[in-house]
Amino acid sequence: VRPVRVLVTGASGQVGSELVAHLSSRRARLEVLGVSSAHVDVGSREAVNEVFDQFRPSIAFHLAAMTQVDACESEAERAFRVNAWGTRNVVAAAEAVGARVVYVSTDYVFDGTSDRPYHEWDPPKPINVYGASKLGGEMELRPEDACVRISWVSGAHGNNIVRTVLKLLAQGQELSFVTDQVGCPTFTFDLAPVLALIGLEGLSGIFHVTNQGPTSWYGFAREIAAQSGAEPDRIKPVLTKDLVPPRPARRPANSVLANTAIKFAGIDPLPDWRESLPRLLAEIGPVPAA
Ligand SMILES: NC(=O)c1ccc[n+]([C@@H]2O[C@H](COP(=O)([O-])OP(=O)(O)OC[C@H]3O[C@@H](n4cnc5c(N)ncnc54)[C@H](OP(=O)(O)O)[C@@H]3O)[C@@H](O)[C@H]2O)c1
Repeated sequence: VRPVRVLVTGASGQVGSELVAHLSSRRARLEVLGVSSAHVDVGSREAVNEVFDQFRPSIAFHLAAMTQVDACESEAERAFRVNAWGTRNVVAAAEAVGARVVYVSTDYVFDGTSDRPYHEWDPPKPINVYGASKLGGEMELRPEDACVRISWVSGAHGNNIVRTVLKLLAQGQELSFVTDQVGCPTFTFDLAPVLALIGLEGLSGIFHVTNQGPTSWYGFAREIAAQSGAEPDRIKPVLTKDLVPPRPARRPANSVLANTAIKFAGIDPLPDWRESLPRLLAEIGPVPAA
């Protein structure tokens, strides 16, 4: 039996490295090729065509993105080139070899003004360049492709709030986190199996996939402190409007994604993030102050 060929863009990233490890560890016969910007710039149509033409995947998990939300404000052209045009290139190359695409998108496609969690059929309305460019990528997908929106990601490989809090606590600092942005943390080891399932089962359409349990960045940081044995009161509350200096990109106040479509598809929801946090803390291990 010929193995199923699976291409992963953004393979050196937080989510990509976990997804490649997960796919490679599955017993099913998969041939996995992970690429990062050093191998293939998704903004280059020729480079994308070349890797699809040579590897001929049947599934492409497209995770590559310019993810620096604040830098996207001042580098909008680069953000759209990578996130929107890059996705157009991936979809066109997939079409040429008969591959389906699983595109990973973001809670930042919403404006955050809803008084309830956003479900998959809510109209997007981004309030920053990153969100607009990722929505541009969504608009490139075909009916047979899948779009998986995730939020507030942390994993063992990469910089994220968990690592930041651990480092600043080790430095003996007091830290402030905002109370008026609410979302659902998502851990890469819980996300990767569901991403893989959506791709390998051939599901199409939009899916919101996050760990369960809304919290603010303040609530998240306090729990990281508490579960790592530090005093939670070292985390101080602050309002977004009082941040000094203010951050260049606006963020949605409500980033909570209702995981409605995976429920309808009969896929188990990811655990509450508080239950999964001990595993991530163990995987990250002690973080030095330096
Ligand atoms: N992190 C979050 O909180 C979050 C939340 C919602 C959605 N997402 C989405 O989830 C996906 C994965 O995010 P992540 O946190 O794993 O990202 P990440 O750690 O920042 O990694 C980004 C990946 O994209 C690659 N990349 C960047 N520019 C590229 C280019 N021009 N051509 C090819 N590859 C390029 C990077 O390769 P190099 O290492 O070579 O630069 C890296 O592998 C992204 O699509 C992101 O928009 C993330």
